[in-house]
Order: sequence, then C-alpha cells, then structure tokens
Amino acid sequence: SEEEVVNVVVGDKDGNKFNVRGKIGDNLLYLSKRFEVQMEGACEASLACTTCHIYVDHEFLDLLPEATETEEDLLDQAPFLKENSRLGCQIILNKQLDGLKVTLPAATKNFYVDGHKPTPH
Ligand code: FES
Repeated sequence: SEEEVVNVVVGDKDGNKFNVRGKIGDNLLYLSKRFEVQMEGACEASLACTTCHIYVDHEFLDLLPEATETEEDLLDQAPFLKENSRLGCQIILNKQLDGLKVTLPAATKNFYVDGHKPTPH
C-alpha cells in the first residue's frame, strides 16, 4: 500500500538521477538493481566487497543504524571514501527514510575480503 512506499533518489557519477520506488524492508542494493541503477553488489550483500559503496546525503546519515565494524573495515578499502560513505546493501528502507538521496562514487573496485569470490550464478 501507499503507506509502505519509500521513495529514494539514486544519483550516478554522471549526474543522472534515478527515482527508485521501494517499500519498507527493501534492501537498497537489490532495490537499485531492480531499477537498473549501477550498484554492483558483487558479494550479494554478504559484507565481503565494496562494490555497493554509496554516499548518503547528510540529512539522512543520522537516520541510519551505525555501520558495523565489518562495514567500516570494508569502507576503509573503498576507493573515493568520504565521511558519508556507506555500503548500499546494509541499508534497509523504513518510513523515516522516505526521500532518501544517495550517490554512487566515481568508481568501485572489486575488492573481496580474503580473496573470497562468491561463485557466479
Ligand atoms: Fe558486497 Fe554490499 S554487496 S558488501
């Protein structure tokens, strides 16, 4: 229902904006993929890569749960890290996040923890 709708705007590195219409409980990575936004998510949200790296608009940063230590460690490896960097696959939509704006970094790198590469499927 409309009650459940959470609107997100994803900007890419070229300045394009994608209006992504999600709902409460959606994972931002998978939602973006459904809308064909270039958020790669190489490790399938298993917190083992940085290819879902995004910047979160400052007004929304405090509404997100704090990053876990694992997320912080991964972000440390992410190219173009900023103080508002987060991993997109760790953002679960709720009503408070309606209107959320995020931006993709200029580039991501296929970095896997411990050289672990998920099996393609
Ligand atoms: Fe790999 Fe988010 S998809 S950490």
